[in-house]
Amino acid sequence: MKYDVRQLPLISNEEIARGIFDMRLRYEQDDLPAECGQFAHVYVPGKTLRRPISVCDASDGVLRLVYQVKGGGTKLMSEMKAGGTVDVLVPLGHGFEIKKDRRYCLVGGGIGVPPMLYTAKQCDKPVIITGFRDKSLVILQEELAAEGETLLCTDDGSAGRKGFVTDLLREKIADTDEVCACGPTPMLKAVAAVCSEFSKPCQVSLEERMGCGVGACLVCAVKVRKNGEEIMQHVCKNGPVFNAEEVFF
Ligand SMILES: Cc1cc2nc3c(=O)[nH]c(=O)nc-3n(C[C@H](O)[C@H](O)[C@H](O)COP(=O)(O)OP(=O)(O)OC[C@H]3O[C@@H](n4cnc5c(N)ncnc54)[C@H](O)[C@@H]3O)c2cc1C
Ligand code: FES
Repeated sequence: MKYDVRQLPLISNEEIARGIFDMRLRYEQDDLPAECGQFAHVYVPGKTLRRPISVCDASDGVLRLVYQVKGGGTKLMSEMKAGGTVDVLVPLGHGFEIKKDRRYCLVGGGIGVPPMLYTAKQCDKPVIITGFRDKSLVILQEELAAEGETLLCTDDGSAGRKGFVTDLLREKIADTDEVCACGPTPMLKAVAAVCSEFSKPCQVSLEERMGCGVGACLVCAVKVRKNGEEIMQHVCKNGPVFNAEEVFF
């Protein structure tokens, strides 16, 4: 895994939905290309630990990190101003494996939607299913629509269909070769169950608290199944993307 600490110039950092910000950083990829599903570990002045944020896009010399303000660290990130620089460790982790000649269905829930934009860019005409709690949290729809067929749902029906991403996945799964998903754990578990029911391979991006972000501490360790054995792996290094059948939900 090749990564580096970079001081990236901050181009813009704008609120795109309630409490959700789109941070754009100048990023020349020639020597450090990012894979879809990888993440950046962002240094926040005043905080000891970096904050892990997925690569939303890494095209045309711009690294985009779309994040929701949750606590102190992301609040400080939201106050960073264009013209400064941001200290990031990037690109980190094992991302989604996208094969040619496969029909992908990408499923994103809430703040798990951003990495699906860069993932969609690596697929050939994917179906992209996104779900949010309500319309105030809906993001990235136009950009996703430029990459494939999009289906939107909200829990309360205030945007798109009323219901869950798994309802839409059931409608599309027969025409799908493989599913990639990112979102809250209960959603990933439900998506993995639908894929298992229809015997479709499924990759899921897990979220764990992180320390170093590079496999040097034990903060992000999870138990997975590999070749019939139960072993511990690091979400930051072996993941965040795992085959769903390896994961203990
Ligand atoms: C691989 C990965 C990718 C992620 N991608 C995104 C993304 O694209 N957009 C986004 O909005 N969020 C993403 N997250 C979640 C994001 O890292 C947390 O919301 C953020 O770290 C919260 O920091 P805080 O200081 O605001 O909150 P606090 O609760 O004050 O944080 C305290 C500590 O807990 C850690 N922490 C808190 N919540 C989480 C969490 N859910 N996951 C991991 N660590 C957490 C923080 O990093 C910090 O070390 C991702 C998490 C992981 C592991
Ligand atoms: S965060 Fe340190 S090993 Fe993963």
